[in-house]
Amino acid sequence: MDQMQPPAATVGAEAPDIPEDDNVTAVTVAGENRSEEEAQEEAREEAQEEAQEEAQEEAQEEAQEEAQEEAQEEAQEEAQEEAHTPKLWEPTEKDVARSGWFSSYFFDAPDKRFGVHKWAHYMPVYEKHLARFQGKDPVILEVGVAKGGSVEMWNRYFGGRCTIYGVDLMRKCQVMEDHFPNVHIVRGDQADPNFWRDFRTKCPKVDILLEDGGHKMHQQIRTFECMYDHVKDDGVYLCEDMCTSYRPEYGGGLGKGGTFVEYTKGLIDQMNAHHIRASRTGDHAYFPLDFRHVTASVTFYDGVVVLEKHVDHEVPYGALKGGNGQCVWCNRILAPGEAPHEKLECQSWLRRRYP
Ligand SMILES: C[S@@+](CC[C@H](N)C(=O)[O-])C[C@H]1O[C@@H](n2cnc3c(N)ncnc32)[C@H](O)[C@@H]1O
Repeated sequence: MDQMQPPAATVGAEAPDIPEDDNVTAVTVAGENRSEEEAQEEAREEAQEEAQEEAQEEAQEEAQEEAQEEAQEEAQEEAQEEAHTPKLWEPTEKDVARSGWFSSYFFDAPDKRFGVHKWAHYMPVYEKHLARFQGKDPVILEVGVAKGGSVEMWNRYFGGRCTIYGVDLMRKCQVMEDHFPNVHIVRGDQADPNFWRDFRTKCPKVDILLEDGGHKMHQQIRTFECMYDHVKDDGVYLCEDMCTSYRPEYGGGLGKGGTFVEYTKGLIDQMNAHHIRASRTGDHAYFPLDFRHVTASVTFYDGVVVLEKHVDHEVPYGALKGGNGQCVWCNRILAPGEAPHEKLECQSWLRRRYP
């Protein structure tokens, strides 16, 4: 026991051979590892935040842009609507009662933008024949646009609630389309049947046809012949400035054959086609009824002729006696549902009248 062995505990205490410095180094390395992770996490978080911020900013910008676009579109729509529904001068009820809308507009409206080229005494004619189309969004065709004053007048009369087709030779009339979204200008010659053939394929049937073009005889007649059946069944056809039928420079002359006034006088006979057929003389027996069937009236004014259309579903001269179902012409009691005979088609009556 001379040589004392160190206590085990001491041996154990001396055992660790890791230098203190090394120990510190190890701690530091671990610390460095953590800060790298933290840095990475921080970087990730930062990147995420940045991405979120960017996304938010983008979304905000997009929303702002959308809002701006919407506001712009709304403003444009409003402007268009305003153009479509003119809120300019309107005659008062007193004005209208005194002289009618058209005369009031023609004489009094201070804010007409385009020159109207009409005779004043046409205004009551428009009043009479166009009033029934108010509130019905009519389709209008005007032949002869010139400066566009009448197009503006129709548009304002119908409060923008109409579609207007304007036909003119002049290219510059096209400008009316920029002022009114419901106006379509078609360039063409009213005397050319090919023009009308093409036009009819592109333009719907119209409620109102106003003919105020070149006023020469062949132009008026050609337009009527090409376009009368493109007016709807209950529409109206107005031809203005028929006074040219009396003026040689337009091909007119009092009583002269081939003028528009003589042509339309011929329509009076067509209105009475049934009676002409009933005369049963020669070709008259076959006098055409077509015009009579689609036309309710032909009215002549100073310088204007107006044709009102209809569909003639009725038996024009059919009549019953005292409501007991007896035909007025042949006295036969009709079967239930049998239409009263048309006078000129009632065989018994005809036999008696023309034995
Ligand atoms: C009396 S102005 C029209 C006026 C217009 N409606 C107004 O009331 O203000 C006649 C128009 O018919 C056009 N015109 C003349 N001959 C034509 C033709 N053969 N075909 C189409 N338009 C014609 C002229 O260019 C002119 O613009």
